[in-house]
Amino acid sequence: MAVKYIPEPFRIKMVETIKMLTREERIKKIKEANYNLFNLRGADVYIDLLTDSGTNAMSDKQWAGIMRGDEAYAGASSYYKLLEAGKDIFHYGYIQPVHQGRAAEKVLFPLVLSEGKFAISNMFFDTTRAHVILSGARPIDCVIEAAKHPFKRCKFKGNMDIEKLEKIILEKGPENIGIVVMTITNNSAGGQPVSMENIKKTSEICKKYNIIFDIDAARYAENAYFIKRDEEGYQDKSIKEIVQEVFSYADMFTMSAKKDTIVNMGGLIGVKDGNSPLILKIKAACISFEGFFTYGGLSGRDLEALAIGLYEGLDEDYLKYRNGQMEYLASRLDDAGIAYQAPIGGHGPFIDAKAMFPQIPYNEFPGQVLAIELYIEAGIRSCDIGSYMLGNDPDTGKQLHADFEFTRLAIPRRVYTQSHFDIMADAIIAVRDRADKIKRGYKITWEPPILRHFQASLEPIEK
Ligand code: F0G
Repeated sequence: MAVKYIPEPFRIKMVETIKMLTREERIKKIKEANYNLFNLRGADVYIDLLTDSGTNAMSDKQWAGIMRGDEAYAGASSYYKLLEAGKDIFHYGYIQPVHQGRAAEKVLFPLVLSEGKFAISNMFFDTTRAHVILSGARPIDCVIEAAKHPFKRCKFKGNMDIEKLEKIILEKGPENIGIVVMTITNNSAGGQPVSMENIKKTSEICKKYNIIFDIDAARYAENAYFIKRDEEGYQDKSIKEIVQEVFSYADMFTMSAKKDTIVNMGGLIGVKDGNSPLILKIKAACISFEGFFTYGGLSGRDLEALAIGLYEGLDEDYLKYRNGQMEYLASRLDDAGIAYQAPIGGHGPFIDAKAMFPQIPYNEFPGQVLAIELYIEAGIRSCDIGSYMLGNDPDTGKQLHADFEFTRLAIPRRVYTQSHFDIMADAIIAVRDRADKIKRGYKITWEPPILRHFQASLEPIEK
């Protein structure tokens, strides 16, 4: 039985019209897009679940803040407002705005990584992995084994494998590990949360071997909600208190603010030690790549909206409703026997496309097959989180075989309502019901050397 949908703790003040094309039109559009959903025009999509990044609805307070944004080149009041919010929430000595998450990675990673070095994470997201490689180093994923089994329901499935982490550090030599990155929630593993205990243990290992511990904090508020809900001893703590404890274990954070901070553009770098020699280097790199360090590639109005969004993202009524949407959709999938990374994570279902299309091998991209079918079925845009996204080995050029083949339906914040969720569930079920008729997947006819999934062209493989 579907669980009860938790009503929105807000009402709608502004609307944006969406339109569904006919099935024939959608078949034509996806072909014209070379079977790459990133090539579709937004207007040709009915429910856009390509990403939950920058697609969120801002509040009346944030829009009001936009009008108050101070556009001074240096030292704008909106910068100081953001700085104070950042210091208040994270208790960090230095907060650097940047234009988005990958800018934080581009600024920070070359300062701590270079050829011959390694970066270890519970799981790198695609841009994070790319910036490790671009800095000359190599990324190593170290998620717990349970994450690789979508059917295995367990709490905190995004955790770092602590034993493996220490083993890799000793194998490669602690002096060769430039950084350990804890991604919360663990996006590539299905938006799965990481426990406080796991964050603490990872921090202890980093301290033991004198390695920088960085939090990739894109979905830190959703992660804190899971800790409050599921980890013993946190039920009576506020989300803010949980966030403060999480960040107390790290040395720094890189954040895409386009997710849990509920803005359309923005990112942050945080450094705990306000006297760290890294801060001057971060400021210098920022000036070269992003803009003067008091605006970091953002308008004053963006800084203002970000400062407000940092608090709104921590609101418990909002987080409960947000999580309720996921639980509602998950229960509809459970009722229909659809396999997904279970239990459902923080920002949407990751459907197990390998289970839905057992006849399609990893190198014909089952996750992409399902994404294309969902577009044809109901105008829903989702994306592959599997071998298609993972790409080729940077050293051998060979297609990598991902641990899982997911299709991610990433849910924007405060945007879609219960009826949209029913359309999502109905479409997934309809595709599953005809899945055995789809015999083959796709081949890549053109791809760029890095982050290929954004731009590649594909073609259906004929039977
Ligand atoms: N880290 C994580 C965990 C992310 O999910 C993302 C982006 C980034 C870093 C990079 O941030 O986009 O602001 O430059 N994830 C988006 C997604 C794109 O669809 O999951 P960005």
